Order: sequence, then structure tokens, then C-alpha cells
Amino acid sequence: MAELTINGRRRLTGELSVQGAKNSALPLLAATFCVPAKCLLQNVPALSDVSATLAILRHLGCTARRNGETVAVDATSPVRYTIPESLMRELRSSIFLLGPLLARFGRAEIFAPGGCDIGARPIDLHLAAMERMGAVIRKADDKITMRVPHGLHGAEINLRFPSVGATENILMAAACARGTTHLHGAAREPEIVDLAEFLNRCGAKIRGAGESLVVIEGVRRLHGCSYRVMPDRIIAGSCLSAAAVTGGEILLRGVDHAHLAPILPAFRRMGCRITAVNDALHLRAPRRLTPFSTLVTAPYPGFPTDSQAAFLAMACTASGVSRIEETIFESRFRQAREFSKMGAHIVLRGRRAEIYGVPRLHGARVEAMDLRGGAALAVAALCAEGQTTITRAELIARGWEDITGTLRRIGAQTNG
Ligand code: EPZ
Repeated sequence: MAELTINGRRRLTGELSVQGAKNSALPLLAATFCVPAKCLLQNVPALSDVSATLAILRHLGCTARRNGETVAVDATSPVRYTIPESLMRELRSSIFLLGPLLARFGRAEIFAPGGCDIGARPIDLHLAAMERMGAVIRKADDKITMRVPHGLHGAEINLRFPSVGATENILMAAACARGTTHLHGAAREPEIVDLAEFLNRCGAKIRGAGESLVVIEGVRRLHGCSYRVMPDRIIAGSCLSAAAVTGGEILLRGVDHAHLAPILPAFRRMGCRITAVNDALHLRAPRRLTPFSTLVTAPYPGFPTDSQAAFLAMACTASGVSRIEETIFESRFRQAREFSKMGAHIVLRGRRAEIYGVPRLHGARVEAMDLRGGAALAVAALCAEGQTTITRAELIARGWEDITGTLRRIGAQTNG
């Protein structure tokens, strides 16, 4: 088990560059399976979830090679349409191979995906959408077998919830389907736009990505391309939080300001001064943060559920009461008890958390429950008195590239 140790109470200052986005790199890697040619993806972060996805692509018969931040995938000659449970369980985004498998083989044999334990995380929206496009499903125990007897065809699809993953699967399945798909109620996250732009660069005809109605006109075949993964807006927020919680100052390079629009007002409400400097963001924090009042998570362009844990961490030592309502996942406050071991005062009521700021946290031995919760413990440890050890730190490595090196670069005392 990996452990991350942090000695807190150091004011963090300096410059950082944002890594490539995990939640874009993963669907983009899956989308390369739709392309019977070689694709080059740049700015791919070095994460365990990326390695797990490359293992699935190789299992399916692709060549997948990393050279620094660039990953080359060649899906010209896939050899199988089955993914074993061991590979599916590694991560949530293994489900993103469903659409590409049906598009390339007309069949898929998979299992329910894994992923962070933050709720039930069903895949009914994915499966129903594939059925709308001509797939026939058979479930036996945990195994899901899908066939498309007459090939995927365009459809009118209405998502009851703007599921990010289901939207991505539909874009990949519809790109080469026979006819046109109208997707209503699509997720609007920037990662959806990144995926659509990649597929269009491969020759797809997708219009409206980033809006609720996306129209995908199926084409016969996609061709290879080179594409740069967008910056990680969630890790950008985590880096800003690391400086903010220590009363520090940071210049964060390589950000897309529009992607951070949902979280910057909350930083400002906490007393941080934030200015845009070309493709960078400068944050200067007050000695002590003030409460952000209330945050309610929502699908983009609302406040991102993946960023709420970092704000909960900052609220632990703010000068008052802050409130968070988590509307996306039903178990995203499990981390709260670990913050309490550090002296935080958090009251949970269902999907609501009330955080009563205390003057100071103290170091403790705490356990990461999931990627974003673990990253938030690191944020809290940065301002805690003494040493904090975070166990199961491998969960953080799923999405935060070299957290130890990153925090050290702005003056933190860490090892792990
Ligand atoms: C993606 O997960 C992200 N993961 C998550 O990030 C992120 O929190 C989430 O989108 C919401 O923004 C990746 O992109 C790899 P959803 P996904 O489908 O696609 C329900 C992180 O830390 N739902 O938008 O699984 C579901 O239960 C991770 O990086 C169904 O009911 O999220 C949830 O309540 C965590 N049926 C809601 O929709 C379905 O078929 C949002 O899920 C699918 C989803």
C-alpha cells in the first residue's frame, strides 16, 4: 500500500504547469479503438488509470506505446471483442470501450466497470443508448454480452440525466453508425467537447458538443490523427487549493480559464485574489480563508462534483461555517471522518455537509477513500500542524500525476 507523508504549516508559493486531463485522456484513448489506423495523443498524463486503459487496448489487439507525454495507439487490426472482468474492474472508464467495440466488431463481451467508490454508478444509460442504436443485450451474472445483428444505426436518444460517460459512449458508437443520431440531454462537460473535436479530426461529423443537443452524422470510416489532450481542470483546482489553504501564492500555467469558471467564484468568496495572465492563472490567498457559504454540485457548467472535496478541505480551517450539497453521487462524503481525525468539525446530513472552520488542524494517520477524497486529504495536510500520513495513496495516483513532485515544487515537505 502506498503512503504519502506531508509535514504541514508551510506557506506554498511558486509556479506549476497543469497536467493533461485524466477525464479526457481516458475517453480519447477508448476512441482510438474506433479508428482503424494510428493515432497520436499528446499531453497524456502518466496515471495508473491511463496505464490500465492501455492494457485493455493491448488486450484487444492494438499497439499502444508511450513516448514521454505522447501515446501512439494503432487499432488497425483488433483481435477480440471481449474484456475480462479483471481489466474491466480496474477503472470506471473501461465502460468507454463499449461503444467502440460495437462500432468495430458489432459485438462486445464485458463486465460492469470499476472506479472510485463514490456511489452505485450504474451503467443503465449506456446500455439503453446502445439498444436504441440496434444492440441486443444479454446479461448472465456479471457478464454483459451485446450484439448488433444489423450494425449500429442512428437514433433519437434522450438521456434522463446528462451522464458524462454515457454521452461519450454514444458519440463513439454513433460516429460510424448508419444514419444520424440526435442526442438530447447530453452532458456538456469540456471533456465531451475534447472527445468530439478528436473524433471530428478523425473524420467524424459531430455538431453541438458542449450543448444539450448533439447531432452525430455517421460516416463510413475514420482515419488517424494527432491530438492534444485538454488541461485537467480538476487538478488545476487542486493545485490552487494547495496554495490557498496555506495562505500562499501560485502561478498556474497551461489552464483553460473557461473550464475553471465554475470554481473561481468560490475561491474569491474565500478571500483569494485571482487574476488571468494569458494562459496562466495567478492566485494569492489571505492568511486565513473565509467560508464560501454554500456550494451545490451540478453537471457542467455547474460546480463540478470532482472539485467539492478540495473545497471541503479548505473549509476545515476557514473562519466560519461552509456548506456543501452533493447532488451527483450519493457517497461522496465518506472522506469526512478522515478529516475529523485531523481535528476538523464536519456535520453530515445525507447529501449535505456543514463544515465548521477551526483555527488549526493537526497531523494524523488517515486513509484515502477515493481519488478526489485522497487529494483533498493532502490539501488539508498542507495546513495541518505536524505530520500527516495518507494511506492508500495509490488512489490519488489514479488521477494526480506525481502529486509528491508537484507539491514539492511549490515548497511542500512531502515524501511518498
Ligand atoms: C465521469 O464519471 C467522471 N469520470 C467522474 O470523475 C465525474 O465525477 C463524473 O463524470 C461526473 O462529472 C470519468 O470521466 C472517467 P456520470 P461517470 O455518468 O461518467 C448516474 C473522477 O474522480 N448514472 O456523469 O461515471 C451516476 O450514478 C471521477 O475523476 C446513472 O444513473 O459519471 C451518477 O449519479 C469520479 N446511470 C450520475 O449519473 C448511468 O448509466 C453521474 O454519472 C450512468 C450514470
